[in-house]
Amino acid sequence: MKISSQFADSFIKKDDINSALESSIEKLGILNKKSGVGSEYLGWMNLSEIISEKELERVISVAGKFQTYETVIVIGIGGSYLGSKAIIDLFKPYFKDSETEILFAGQNLDEDYLQELLDYVNNKNFGIVVISKSGTTLEPALAFRLLLENLKNRLENAEIKNRVVAITDKEKGALKDLANVYQLESFVVPDNVGGRYSVLTPVGLLPMAIAGIDIEKLIQSAKKASVEFLKEEKVNPAIIYATYRNLLYKNDFTNEIMVYSKPKWGAFAEWWKQLFGESEGKDNKGIFPISMNITTDLHSLGQYVQEGRRNLFETFIRFTEKETTLEVVNSIENYDKLNYLSGINFHTINSKAEQGTIEAHYNGGVPILQIELEKLNIETIGELIYFFEISCAISGYVLGVNPFNQPGVEAYKKNMFKLLGKK
Ligand code: PA5
Repeated sequence: MKISSQFADSFIKKDDINSALESSIEKLGILNKKSGVGSEYLGWMNLSEIISEKELERVISVAGKFQTYETVIVIGIGGSYLGSKAIIDLFKPYFKDSETEILFAGQNLDEDYLQELLDYVNNKNFGIVVISKSGTTLEPALAFRLLLENLKNRLENAEIKNRVVAITDKEKGALKDLANVYQLESFVVPDNVGGRYSVLTPVGLLPMAIAGIDIEKLIQSAKKASVEFLKEEKVNPAIIYATYRNLLYKNDFTNEIMVYSKPKWGAFAEWWKQLFGESEGKDNKGIFPISMNITTDLHSLGQYVQEGRRNLFETFIRFTEKETTLEVVNSIENYDKLNYLSGINFHTINSKAEQGTIEAHYNGGVPILQIELEKLNIETIGELIYFFEISCAISGYVLGVNPFNQPGVEAYKKNMFKLLGKK
């Protein structure tokens, strides 16, 4: 992975960069020593600690059983589903599902969504992966209640344990109690890993494995990457990214847009938004994370980015891959006057569009960071997940917040429960 600040440097005072890099290194040192705020939630930093070889094998074995179902419904919200959805979407063909269809539920309260889901799976042979660290979150709990009742209406109680797997706290919460009653196969969300940092625990790994993703390779690549990203050095890309984000923020660039040029990155961007938004948005501080798909969104948000309020910076995810199969075909009539593109592949056209966008936005006053990867594969994704997690932790410390709590999420729940008459 390479990170380039070429199109951001001119927005920052040169003298500030060195001391800011030093400060980020100091924060990484605090994370490595586990001596900062929220350090009880740093389990994700050491992958061998949070997922043992034995547990990984159990995840793969349970996934194998669930792959025999036509459909598997993953129930969870926030950190309990965004990571697995991100990776599943990245490796799924655009117009075909994985062998086992993976559906998500419990991430909203929309009656239509739930009713249509029930209708859709009613005659299907489906399994459920229900994920909730606390075991008490309303959205997944309600979706699970509906789907469990559906199963109970068709199966003997003793059969439920073959259809449902629970991922939750090791000892407390309603989901844990229910798992005990039905003797469900269960996995534990480690105590020292918060929801949005849990993608490389069974929370993210089990749904991914059911979708046919090589989770051993994913963990291997994240582990390998962690060695590099934990180095307290100025050339560490995580140090560079965390430093530049904060320097730009101090210069009033308070909104960060993740820009990607392959639509299948949409769910990954949602995961990234949660990771950074929930980690940094507190104490009246924080960079607001947004995402944009180019060239699609250049025909909508593009106008704002080019000429709107100058409080935005962009982080591009870019690929240098050369493998290509699709070229623009020649047309004898050439009615569209596009024969000048004949024989040029779509990777090249997309990357020229990207380059053109970077230059246009930069000239329009938008600082740009670029994260460059060779190609989209399981290795680069393992690396990228760890990169964003550690960058986010460093960045949160630089900003002066606790990146591992989310007290603000309680406010809507309190109101909602009051309105619903919860005792
Ligand atoms: O990152 C977080 O901690 C949150 O987004 C949680 O993942 C989300 O609120 C779901 O919580 P739970 O897994 O307890 O149902």
